[in-house]
Amino acid sequence: MVVIAVDGPSGSGKSSVSKAVAARLGLAYLDTGAMYRAATLWCVDGGTDLADQAAVAYAVRGMPLEMGVDPAAPTVHLGGRDVAAAIRATEVSTAVSQVATNLEVRAELRRRQRAVIEAENAPGGFSGGQGIVAEGRDITTVVAPDADARVLLTASEEARLRRRSLEVHGAADASAVEATRDQVLRRDRDDSTVSQFQVAADGVATVDSSDLDFDQTVDAVLAVVAQ
Ligand code: CDP
Repeated sequence: MVVIAVDGPSGSGKSSVSKAVAARLGLAYLDTGAMYRAATLWCVDGGTDLADQAAVAYAVRGMPLEMGVDPAAPTVHLGGRDVAAAIRATEVSTAVSQVATNLEVRAELRRRQRAVIEAENAPGGFSGGQGIVAEGRDITTVVAPDADARVLLTASEEARLRRRSLEVHGAADASAVEATRDQVLRRDRDDSTVSQFQVAADGVATVDSSDLDFDQTVDAVLAVVAQ
């Protein structure tokens, strides 16, 4: 039974690194950012006014979300529909901070995240009770502050913009990086108003991936877990 918590800003590589760590250790994997993205899609598709905090909270409480926690093939279903691609659309990326800064939404999604973590620490979950790697913005500090290992994955602004630009535009030339800059930095700034993920909290190990390749970053996180 183990819980590994990984937080980090946009483009830090936390999703791909957390998936690889979970696969290596035979653990389940939970992408909490995908849950905030799904909540945003649910509200947008349902015509909920994102500025109406009470209406958004009400909609999210009723959201039929199913998270698949296999790190080799994580899934996100909303009312039975596979929304893995839809939650990455620009429309969702630009609106997600507005939904994620709604405190009632956060309370609801944290409750669901803790339920997934508990299920993986009991026999019968995907991992057969082995445990889980959960990643996001507030896992090390609020969702699972008692996790066995807690890591803040950081990277320089330049490295984060280059990675996100490659993901979204398939290129990292100057104009692609510029197109990514506004969205990523604005989201980091907006998210920072409710989650503290820019500086490691007490007892949280920092892994700076700016000058590490993917495998080196995975190894650095595994080294923290082994401590
Ligand atoms: O695209 P990126 O990897 O930066 O973000 P993500 O992990 O997909 O998360 C999308 C959004 O969900 C973030 O920008 C936050 O607004 C929100 N989020 C959050 O508030 N708390 C978390 N634990 C995870 C994500």
